[in-house]
Amino acid sequence: MLTKIPRGTKDITPDEIYKWHYLEETARKVCEDFSFSEVRFPTFEYTELFARGVGDTTDVVQKEMYTFLDKDERSITLRPEGTASTARLFLQNSLYAGTLPSKLYYLIPCFRYEKPQAGRLREFHQFGAEIFGAPGPLAEVEIITLIDSFLKRVGITDIALNINSLGCKTCRAEYQKALFSFFSERKDKLCPLCNERLAKNPMRIIDCKNPDCKEQIKGMPKMLDFLCGECKEHFESVKEYLTGLSIPYTVDPSIVRGLDYYTRTVFEFVTNEIGAQGTVCGGGRYDNLTREIGDMEYAGIGFAMGLERLLLLLSAKGVKIPEPENVKLFLIPLGTRAQKLSANLLLEMRNMGISAEMDLLSRSVKAQMKFDHPILSNTDLLKIKDMKTGEAHEISISEFTSGFRKILEEKTCQIV
Ligand code: HAM
Repeated sequence: MLTKIPRGTKDITPDEIYKWHYLEETARKVCEDFSFSEVRFPTFEYTELFARGVGDTTDVVQKEMYTFLDKDERSITLRPEGTASTARLFLQNSLYAGTLPSKLYYLIPCFRYEKPQAGRLREFHQFGAEIFGAPGPLAEVEIITLIDSFLKRVGITDIALNINSLGCKTCRAEYQKALFSFFSERKDKLCPLCNERLAKNPMRIIDCKNPDCKEQIKGMPKMLDFLCGECKEHFESVKEYLTGLSIPYTVDPSIVRGLDYYTRTVFEFVTNEIGAQGTVCGGGRYDNLTREIGDMEYAGIGFAMGLERLLLLLSAKGVKIPEPENVKLFLIPLGTRAQKLSANLLLEMRNMGISAEMDLLSRSVKAQMKFDHPILSNTDLLKIKDMKTGEAHEISISEFTSGFRKILEEKTCQIV
């Protein structure tokens, strides 16, 4: 059957596209208000970018990437996320030479080979933003207030924000040592992959989805107890700003995030209204990423929000997305002469920016009258009726196009 879509992917049909346009337009408007610029980058990158950037001990890199060799035998990967590509774009295009910080956003499809379920797809869409070159806590404020404003504008006012700090290289090393000795004692109960993680990156064990491993994380050491003075001060400052801005949050020491690049602040916006995949948005600081992939040091912070999960949440909450206006005008020509005239009229109206339509299948007038559109039937003298007020106007075709816009403004018209 060639009409079957691949597992974990979705079509967006004409009757639901308005929801996507609405979210995308709102995202663009909020980003504009916050002075972020849109960036676009390739759907695929060299695999090393994600292996180095996202981290080769993560589930994303180890299990979920769509990776293949191109005809030149180069390993290529469909992007599983947007941060590594945005960091590459920032470095490759020397955006650091301009005014810093560099504030960028994107609306992109991403690809992860995961087990599909509600809110978890193999192709999904992210709205994300990143700031490069801003090491202080005000950058956290910028990112979190951007998300907060966007969510409020689309009608989400009560989603939980959980935050944590993962420290810097120095204090994280101490934490990893503590985790290593904690999990070494429980080695036999961990899955084979976590046994590998134990040697390479014990923090990844915290993220394992295996129920036996989940059981073993109980009572583990917490990163917050290992923060160095500077990381602690940074985290305190972020919390103070959020409190000052009346943005409620909960400190959740179990947030480690599934990607290796994070340093210091990490956060998630979560809901229990859409089932198991309740993390609608996640992000954090990644001050070592540009050094990791390009040997240049620029602080980074950002977020990404899954648009499919956001749509699920809007629907669960009964938030109504504004539907677009129907076609403004439908022409019904009577006879061949009128049909030709209508073709000209139709084009003229469309070129004036008036949404107009005509039946392409030459159906009977009766059938056409049943269409759910404002109607125009075409004789030399047109009668235009405002369907709201009942007010009628008579107008010749020659006057029609020039005078039409005025009459149509803000009105739904039927013309007979
Ligand atoms: P992430 O947590 O892996 O972070 O993904 C961000 C969001 O993308 C998730 O919260 C979720 O809404 C959505 N998402 C992820 N995987 C799927 C899936 N399989 N199906 C549907 N939705 C999904 C990142 O991707 C980071 N790049 C975020 C970031 C930006 N951190 C700093 N800057």
